[in-house]
This record gives sequence, structure tokens and C-alpha cells, in this order.
Amino acid sequence: MRWPTRLLHATAAQPHAFRSLATPVYRGSTVVFDRVAGIVDDWRQKDGAYSYGLYGSPTVLELGARIAELERAFHTFILPSGQAAIALVYLALCRAGDHGLVPASAYGPNRGLAADMLKGFGIEIDVYDPAIGAGIEALIRPNTRLIWTESPGSATMEVQDIPAIVAAAKARGVPVALDNTYSAGILFDAFGHGVDISIQALTKYIGGHSDVLLGSLSVANEALYERIGAARTQLGLSVSPDEASLALRGLQTLAVRLERMEKSTLEVAHWLAARPEIDLVLHPAFPGCPGHEYWKRDFIGSASVFSILFRDEMPTDAVSTFVDALELFQMGWSWGGTTALVMLYPELKRADRDYAGRLVRFNVGLEDPADLIVDLARALSVAREKPGP
Ligand SMILES: Cc1ncc(COP(=O)(O)O)c(C=O)c1O
Repeated sequence: MRWPTRLLHATAAQPHAFRSLATPVYRGSTVVFDRVAGIVDDWRQKDGAYSYGLYGSPTVLELGARIAELERAFHTFILPSGQAAIALVYLALCRAGDHGLVPASAYGPNRGLAADMLKGFGIEIDVYDPAIGAGIEALIRPNTRLIWTESPGSATMEVQDIPAIVAAAKARGVPVALDNTYSAGILFDAFGHGVDISIQALTKYIGGHSDVLLGSLSVANEALYERIGAARTQLGLSVSPDEASLALRGLQTLAVRLERMEKSTLEVAHWLAARPEIDLVLHPAFPGCPGHEYWKRDFIGSASVFSILFRDEMPTDAVSTFVDALELFQMGWSWGGTTALVMLYPELKRADRDYAGRLVRFNVGLEDPADLIVDLARALSVAREKPGP
């Protein structure tokens, strides 16, 4: 062989006996078959019959299998982001003329997709009060194909009565999807509570270090596996093994991170609850959080994200000053990573209340909570002394 050919068809090979604790990063688009009889053209690669990189390398499939094991799901698909997982649920289950339901407390881009692109496709998604519980029955129509839940909700943290919603949906044969990102798929047992589809933004707790964007979509049964697998294939949603390997690494430390973050978050939230500037602490473990009783009944713990609502006497300018004055809490979207984050919502409305400029969301990281409390105390005094921005 001439050298250009040798570059592509090398005979140099290393022994196969290398055994590492880490799952290898398998890159590849083309899968090579040994014989014509072995050619496979199928997205179902569960049993090792690989056909094409788009449907998942061993690294990506390993991540999916591990999350399925944790969530006790029939199967878990890995997707490029949490939002991609949300979009896939809609696109797999809804067609023109169909109807769906999404809580007002759902992640904004979930509701945004429903209000814009899905509406354009002739799919009608109604927004419902997250506290609705069994009352959801009255909103289900003959053409309802999907009910979304998210518990606790984004920013306003409402915990939903998932068993009541599931019971009403099952009676009408409508699948229930849950955004279970807060729970890392662990603190709330989605499938044990009868949910049909559980998605996570792996970007948050599983990735865990604010350096990877990934999503998971877990299904309860084979029929949903077939439907969602086919839609994912048609949409060409694929994930890099490098990203998946970061999430696999994240899984190894998830237990210690969650445990430490729960403790630190409770300490910080309790300190804030005692401050005169603060009206409400929206943390599922606090009685003032809407749906606290469902959290106590259905969850095995709490996580690192929560919100506070400033009293009306605190001008919104002072709230902005407070957020600007924080130093350890850095301003940024997302949560679930190792560092403390803060976010102020200039516009935020729910049916019963306008939270604009007064609700602040925190992610408590792995810092010592005593240092975070010093940061909060200092920023509160800056806000009191110099309320304007
Ligand atoms: C509850 C929830 N679901 C889904 C997402 C979307 O995840 P991603 O950023 O990976 O698209 C987020 C991200 O902020 C989220 O907070």
C-alpha cells in the first residue's frame, strides 16, 4: 500500500486488554459491518446491534442505561439538551388538531414552544394552574394527547399533586409527562407515581459542573419507547460521546453533591426566612411553599434551587441593588452546578400574583454556607443603605 492508503488502513494495533474504571469515549458516525448478512438499519440499538452513530454510541447508550436504572424506567433516550427532550415529547405525541396541557409554572421555553411553534402546527396547548390537582379532569378533552407536569415549578417552585393528576389522566387514557429535573430523577420517583414520561435537563445535577448541555427522556413502557424512538430518529437528535462521558462522570459524585447541597441550601434558606426584608421563602421543604404538603408526602429530599420573595415595602430597585451587590452568588441562568448562582426575574406573572422584580432565585453550590450567608447579609445591607441601582 502507498502511504496515503496506509494512513487510512493501518495495521498497527494495541492490545485489547486495557481495562479502565471510566467508560470509553466512542466516537463514530459510520458503524462497520463484518458481512452483508450482518447489516442492520434500525434505531433500536439496545441489544448491541449497532447500525449508525446517530442512534447512539456505546458511551451515550451507557449513560441512558444508567439513568434508566436510577429512574427505574423502561428506557432512557439521551438528547442534546433538556429543552430538546421537552420538544421531543411534544413532537412525538401531538399532531395537528390535538390538545395538550402545560402548567403555568413550567420552564419558560416549554410554554414558549407550545405558544409559538406548536400553535403554528395546529396543536393547541392550554396553560393550567399548577395547584389544580384532580381538577385537571375538567380540562381534559377528547383530543387531549399530553399533560405536562413540572414539580416543583420553575422559579415559583409550586409542588404539584402528581398522583391526583396521574389518576385523572389515566382515567381518560392521556399520558403524563414530568419535568423531573429538580429531583435529578431521584428525589421524586416519577414512575413509582404513575408518570409515563420523565425528562431531565442533565445540564443541571447529572452534569453537575456547569460545563455540559444534555437532556434525558425516560419512558415507562415499550409503546412510548417505539413512538419516541421513531420521532427522535426522524428529527435526527444526536449527542456527542464527549458530552455523555462528562455526564457519566457527574453520576459518580451525584449522591455526595446532592446531600451536601440539600444541607447547605436548607441552612441558607432558613437564614433568609428570618430576615425582615423577606416575605416568603419558596423552597419545597418550607410550609409557605405552595404544595409543601405534596413535597412532604411524595419526595425523599430537597435540592439546591429555591426562590425568595421580597416584601412589598422593599422597592424593586433595592432588590436589583441586592442582587448586584452579591459576590459569591454569581448572576447566571441554570442551576445544579457546584457554584452559587442568583437570578432576578424582571417579569414574572402567575395567575394569582405578579412577582416581577421581587422574586430572586438561588442555586446553592458547594461553597461553605457560612460564607454564602455573609455574602447575603452584606448585600442586604448595601440594598438597605442605597436602594437605587
Ligand atoms: C426545569 C427545567 N427544565 C428544562 C430545562 C432546559 O434544560 P437545558 O438548558 O438543558 O435545555 C431547564 C433549564 O434551565 C430547567 O430549569
